Amino acid sequence: MQVVIQPNAQSAVALVANIIEGVLRDRPPTVLGLATGSTMEAVYAQLRIFHRDQGLDFSACRTFNLDEYVGLPASHPNSYRFYMNHHLFNHVNIDLQNTHLPDGMAADLDAEGQRYERLIDNAGGIDFQLLGIGRSGHIGFNEPLSAFHSRTRVEWLTPATLEQNAPLFKNGTAMPHQAMTMGVGTILDSRRCLLLATGAEKADILARAVEGPLTAMVPASALQLHANCIVVADEAAASHLQGRKDYQLAFQSDPKWTRFLPSAPMASAACG
Ligand code: F6R
Repeated sequence: MQVVIQPNAQSAVALVANIIEGVLRDRPPTVLGLATGSTMEAVYAQLRIFHRDQGLDFSACRTFNLDEYVGLPASHPNSYRFYMNHHLFNHVNIDLQNTHLPDGMAADLDAEGQRYERLIDNAGGIDFQLLGIGRSGHIGFNEPLSAFHSRTRVEWLTPATLEQNAPLFKNGTAMPHQAMTMGVGTILDSRRCLLLATGAEKADILARAVEGPLTAMVPASALQLHANCIVVADEAAASHLQGRKDYQLAFQSDPKWTRFLPSAPMASAACG
C-alpha cells in the first residue's frame, strides 16, 4: 500500500482524476470499478472536464460500480445508477450498455450477486478500482464483519452508514436498509485500486484501515493485502496517520505517482 497526502481536498481530487485519466489513456480498453458518494462527485466533475476540454475517451471503457441500494429503481434520484448517469455517464462518450451496477431490484438477489460476479469475470476482471471509505470502515457497502473473501451479495447497512447517508434522502423517501455490494474479495481481485478519503470525519477510520490490524471489523483494512493499492488523502483525513511524514517521503521519490501531481487549479463543470 502506498499513502499519498495532499494539502487539501481539491488537490487530492485533482491527483485522483489525473491518475484515472492516465489509466484510460495508457491502457484502453479499460475495465474501471467505480464508487459513488459525495467524495467522488468532484472526481467525476474533473473527468467530465477532461472529456470536454481534452477529449478524454471513454468509448473503449467498461465500468462496474461497487454497489446499489436494494429496492430503488434506476430512475430514483438516490439510486446509484441515477448518480452515475448524472455525474459522469451522461456527459462522456461511454456506451451505457458498457456501464454496470448490481441490480437492487432483482427478484432473486443471490442470483443477481452471482450474475454480477460472472459479468466482471467475463470482462476480464477489474483493471482499476476506485474506492471511498465510509465512517463504518466500509468499502463499497461491505460493512463491519464482512469476510475478506466475500463476493457480490446483499448486505445490511449499519447504523453508522444509515446516519451517514440518510440526509441524502429527501422528500420523505426512507433510505433502504439493504444494498447489493461487490464483496471485499471482489475488490481485492482488482489489478489496481485507489482509495480516496477527504475531510476530518474520515481521519479516525482511515488510520484504523491503513495502520490498524487486519480485521473484518474494519473492512477497508483488507486493502493492506492488496498488492497494488494507493490511498490518497487530504491533510484532514490523514491527520491521525502515525507514519504520515514517512509516506510523503516515499511518495515524493516515486515517479510512478508524482507524474500525476496536479500542476494547475481545476476548472469547473456543472452537471447540467
Ligand atoms: C459508494 C461506496 C461507499 C462510499 C463511502 C464514502 O459507492 O462505495 O463505500 O465510498 O460511503 O461515501 P462519502 O464519499 O459520501 O463519504
